[in-house]
Amino acid sequence: MEPNWIEIEKQAKTWLVEAGNKIKKALEQPFTIDAKSGPDDLVTDVDKSTEAYFYQQISSTYPTHHFLGEEGVAKELTSLSGTVWIIDPIDGTMNFVHQQQNFAISMGVFQDGVGKLGFVYDVIKNELFHAVQGEGLFVNDKKVESVKERPLEEAIIGLNANWLVENHPLQTNLIELVQSCRGTRSYGSAALEMAYVATDRMDAYISLNLSPWDYAGGAILLNEVNCLASRFDGSTLSLLDKGTMVCSKSNLHQTLVDRLQKGASE
Ligand code: IPD
Ligand code: CA
Ligand code: CA
Ligand code: CA
Repeated sequence: MEPNWIEIEKQAKTWLVEAGNKIKKALEQPFTIDAKSGPDDLVTDVDKSTEAYFYQQISSTYPTHHFLGEEGVAKELTSLSGTVWIIDPIDGTMNFVHQQQNFAISMGVFQDGVGKLGFVYDVIKNELFHAVQGEGLFVNDKKVESVKERPLEEAIIGLNANWLVENHPLQTNLIELVQSCRGTRSYGSAALEMAYVATDRMDAYISLNLSPWDYAGGAILLNEVNCLASRFDGSTLSLLDKGTMVCSKSNLHQTLVDRLQKGASE
């Protein structure tokens, strides 16, 4: 039976607001900060408690639905069949810790691998980007009509400067791309940066290493305004494995894929 998407959308919004309020409250007190793989990979008890809150709400309201979150509160997800919620409880944890702003809750709800509902919620700015498959993209419930296509030389690209200094095979391609576009920005939250492309605040966003919870919500937003998100070689993003990600306005996408692939097979 097809899930009741209107009810799920309403429910998800209620939980996002509630989780956002809990996060704002948590910021008024000290919280625990741990490093995961290294000093640039942080997690706090607020990341964990926020993910646990969503898992608890979803599993008690919709016991047949499945869940994938960054902090691993649910058992490992190996299949996309049925209804799957993919959640990053805090995207931009480094910003959360250092700036107490510029982070978001990211959520994508999928039916058999197809994106149905996407949410990126900037808790501090109280800005909710959300999309309903086939119905469009909304910012605080106001519909976003369309994005403006721009050529590469007029485009603003979201990109982390770390990717330019590391000695990896794509360094030259990325430097040339930065030299060819109008400008770059780095906000430190992949989900927000994808939402900014979808709402025309940027033209593209590129990352060499993202996980499904980073892009699940953002990809659904982009799809509703005719933008594209893929791996660097143009292939479909996986919802179970991590990898590269390039998203942009649709006309710019092939240019970016060509630039990123340059020399890849030589
Ligand atoms: C990170 C942010 C960041 C991106 C990293 C992600 P997190 O997510 O999206 O902008 O550059 O690759 O891991 O760990 O803050 O949820
Ligand atoms: Ca993280
Ligand atoms: Ca993330
Ligand atoms: Ca996170």
